[in-house]
Amino acid sequence: MKRQMHLGLFILGTGSHVAGWRYPGAVDSFQDFPAIQQIGRTAERGKFDLIFMGDNLYADAAAHPSYTLRLEPLTMLAALATSTSHIGLGATVSTTYSDPFTVARVFASLDHISNGRAAWNAVTTANPATAANFGITHPDHARRYEMAGEFLDVVKGLWDGWADDAIVADRMSGLYIDPVKLRSIDHDGAFFKVKGPLNIGRSPQGHPIVLQAGGSEAGQQLRIAEEPPAGLWTQTGGRHGAAGRHADRWSHRQGSVREARRAAELRQRQQRARHALRTLRAGHVGV
Ligand SMILES: Cc1cc2nc3c(=O)[nH]c(=O)nc-3n(C[C@H](O)[C@H](O)[C@H](O)COP(=O)(O)O)c2cc1C
Repeated sequence: MKRQMHLGLFILGTGSHVAGWRYPGAVDSFQDFPAIQQIGRTAERGKFDLIFMGDNLYADAAAHPSYTLRLEPLTMLAALATSTSHIGLGATVSTTYSDPFTVARVFASLDHISNGRAAWNAVTTANPATAANFGITHPDHARRYEMAGEFLDVVKGLWDGWADDAIVADRMSGLYIDPVKLRSIDHDGAFFKVKGPLNIGRSPQGHPIVLQAGGSEAGQQLRIAEEPPAGLWTQTGGRHGAAGRHADRWSHRQGSVREARRAAELRQRQQRARHALRTLRAGHVGV
């Protein structure tokens, strides 16, 4: 059987080594976007499956220069999406120090801009120094993972709030959005209260890929819960109930040949991105 290697590139602008920037001619700042762009294009040409941007939310002048000085990853990936055509684009966003509506929105946006290449590394943020930038006390490990579970449910619920065919844009009738194909989530949980729906239509992947790299038991459990279904999600419902609320049953079924082909292509891409992340997680970082 032919074996294939999956490659993910963990970009740190100044290189993995803390003193990499001192090498003559080396990139000396993670803020150097033209350099990042060149690295991204080279990775794509070199058959990499994924470019991955980690993130932290505080600055420490004594730390690795690419941890202390960095562009915001989603902004950087949106720009990279227009300079590349098929490589996966992954970034870290914290579930402890973000809000789910914004995260659902930015990853759906990146998925649209990149035509289905967005991946979110959902981290719970281990470093307590972060808390001082958000005016809160750093939640303990168990609480961070409880928050992460609810956070992910909300984000996925928001992504699912738009049926594939919710945007009608019929010039003759003047119907732009079919209101029954758009639903609120009315989430009221322990940590988040979010009505929805999201103000962005369903993205090419439906759900951008969710990566999770926590090594603890709680992290691994969250990862297992995030394993994707092997197929295409389509809506079967329509209206139901006296209030005419949008059906919340989404069934897992085979779509048309075109949809199935598209889904298979997306699954392949997602699988390659996951393989690449596992490689990074196992410490086999070769670039
Ligand atoms: C490949 C990889 C990339 C990671 N990237 C980030 C990151 O960008 N930001 C971050 O705060 N943590 C990052 N982490 C840390 C973890 O996701 C997680 O927060 C940490 O391992 C603590 O969680 P745990 O107690 O479940 O192990 C990364 C871990 C791995 C293995």
